[in-house]
Amino acid sequence: MNTLVLALKLANQPCLVVGGGEVARRKIDALLGTEARITVVAKSVSGEVRDRCLSVGIPTHEREFRNDDVSGQLLVVAATGDSAVNRAVQRACEEHRVLVNCVDDAEHSTAQFPAIVNRGPVTVGISTQGTSPTLARRLREQIEALLPDSVGPLASYLGSRRGRVKEALPEPRARQKFWDDALDSVLVDLIAEGHLDRADEHLSRRLTKPAKSGIVSLVGAGPGDPDLMTLKALHRLQRADVVYHDKLVGAGVLDRCRRDSRRVDVGRRSGDPGNAAARQASINERLAADAGQGLRVVRLKGGDPLVFGRGGEEIESLVERGVPFEIVPGVTAGLGCAAIAGIPLTHREWAQSVRFVTAQVHRGTAPDWPELAKPDQTLVVYMGLNGLEKLCYRLVQVGADPTTPAVVISRATLPGERIVPGTIENLGDRVRAAALDGPVTTIIGRVASFARTDS
Ligand SMILES: C[S@@+](CC[C@H](N)C(=O)[O-])C[C@H]1O[C@@H](n2cnc3c(N)ncnc32)[C@H](O)[C@@H]1O
Repeated sequence: MNTLVLALKLANQPCLVVGGGEVARRKIDALLGTEARITVVAKSVSGEVRDRCLSVGIPTHEREFRNDDVSGQLLVVAATGDSAVNRAVQRACEEHRVLVNCVDDAEHSTAQFPAIVNRGPVTVGISTQGTSPTLARRLREQIEALLPDSVGPLASYLGSRRGRVKEALPEPRARQKFWDDALDSVLVDLIAEGHLDRADEHLSRRLTKPAKSGIVSLVGAGPGDPDLMTLKALHRLQRADVVYHDKLVGAGVLDRCRRDSRRVDVGRRSGDPGNAAARQASINERLAADAGQGLRVVRLKGGDPLVFGRGGEEIESLVERGVPFEIVPGVTAGLGCAAIAGIPLTHREWAQSVRFVTAQVHRGTAPDWPELAKPDQTLVVYMGLNGLEKLCYRLVQVGADPTTPAVVISRATLPGERIVPGTIENLGDRVRAAALDGPVTTIIGRVASFARTDS
């Protein structure tokens, strides 16, 4: 990144527009809203630009551009439609160390006009560093559709009540939490509907009421691609004070966390002593302790938090300690894998049910092998390659057809994803030859024959 999107306060600041045609008019319009002191210099000024300038009192000088025109300006826009003149303007600005925007010439501009979404005091600027104005426009349309008009009045209201809240809550973290809670409350609707008196009453009540206690949100991050997170998961990440996450949760997802949230990696790594129970007990302890401090705690797990992820143990511990909690489901890896491989898990011709199973069997439990070997169903096998070959072998032993299709999917929805098809008879060899890394899930059953393969 070689640019910084800054918000310049241009009110009463001198700004020069060089050019008198349609492009210059658009830039003049963009600057008009800022109350800048605008001057226009152009060899010829169109009737439309002249009328616009006259109507709002902008001085226009109909003559050639001179180098010293830029002196003392805060910002200059070169919008003449003549590249030689634009370059002369740019050079003069360089000499006088003045910010310059050369229209359609990002390379020679030291300032660019971002695509703007404007909602009262809330302004969203989108810069592509001049690489694609069309993309910037598209993004602006998307953001415009997402941002309700009421966000402008909301920002004005919050701005006008900031002082009062600061006085009542001098401690910055308490204040931030207060505003976070308030923005999740009916306050937003009251302002959107214009009931400012009732909004004030609501705000006063919240200021006198003691702070809410903390909460633990067990959140599913999905299989890897951050776009596969639910909106609720995203919302929880953006409000979290602290995020305890697993190793499998990737950087793309963690980037969505609130910037100043504390992030703690509690995933098991290769050098760990291997005492999973002690590790889990310590996680349970920390979740409860942080929520007890009134923090918003997110326990972020790959896929869905309650599918093969020890979410059950964490719930038990939270219930035992009386800690408020909620579950935010996620797209489990099996579904992510099926989607990227194009496998209909319950195609009605081939599979009437689907089972999520693990290749790592918990001590003291044993899979019902004859059940798993039945046709007309799909098995989705979690947790790695270690037990996979043995699992396939057992299925054949108890009567499964050795030619049953099976497919291993690694790093689904992440860069470097792989799809390795085979049958339960030859899957072990195929997987060894493919030298997969990263998390893998296996889908077994007739529907696996639908799998697309690595191209
Ligand atoms: C401890 S389990 C957690 C499962 C998770 N709670 C879920 O719902 O997906 C980890 C296993 O999930 C599967 N997995 C997770 N992410 C995956 C991905 N991106 N591609 C393939 N398999 C994945 C692998 O089988 C991995 O060994």
